[in-house]
Amino acid sequence: MDIVIGLLFWLHLVALAMAGSAVFGMPVVGRQMAGATAETRPTLMTIAKGLGTVSRAALAILIITGPLLIWLKYGGTAGFSVWFNIKMVLVLLLLASVIYSGILGKRVQGGDRSAAAMLPRLGLANIVLMLAIVLCAVLAFG
Ligand code: HEM
Repeated sequence: MDIVIGLLFWLHLVALAMAGSAVFGMPVVGRQMAGATAETRPTLMTIAKGLGTVSRAALAILIITGPLLIWLKYGGTAGFSVWFNIKMVLVLLLLASVIYSGILGKRVQGGDRSAAAMLPRLGLANIVLMLAIVLCAVLAFG
């Protein structure tokens, strides 16, 4: 069982790296998008879509491996500190924000300028949420 728990935690950390690269990479692409020419815009859009896919896959892995770790390693959440509860609320907020970013991304592709103006703020919110989740995880389990 130890090897299964170890592999699940490894997957949890791999997904954390995936989420980090996507969350930090998206604003970099977004900044290039602002001054992009008509020729480079589709390429940047493809990169943004790819990063969106990576972030959604990462969240799915985190949301699957997390509860499995709780079940197999800790036998439930009894005895967890308040940091774990805060982490869960922040995970839900990040999930909602990533889904909303995807919706806005589709609207931007359709030429919606107000959606394009909102994306950088959402990108920043995603970074802050991600950092706060990792801090709560360390305070809860570190
Ligand atoms: C964006 C989502 C998430 C991120 C960024 C994240 C991040 C982390 C990090 C950095 C750790 C290592 C903490 C340490 O050992 O010091 C960790 C551990 C852990 N996380 Fe998550 N997590 C996420 C989602 C979840 C979810 C949804 C659950 C459960 C419902 C969960 C349950 C756990 C558990 C049980 C551990 C401890 C594993 C162990 O020590 O063996 N996580 N998480």
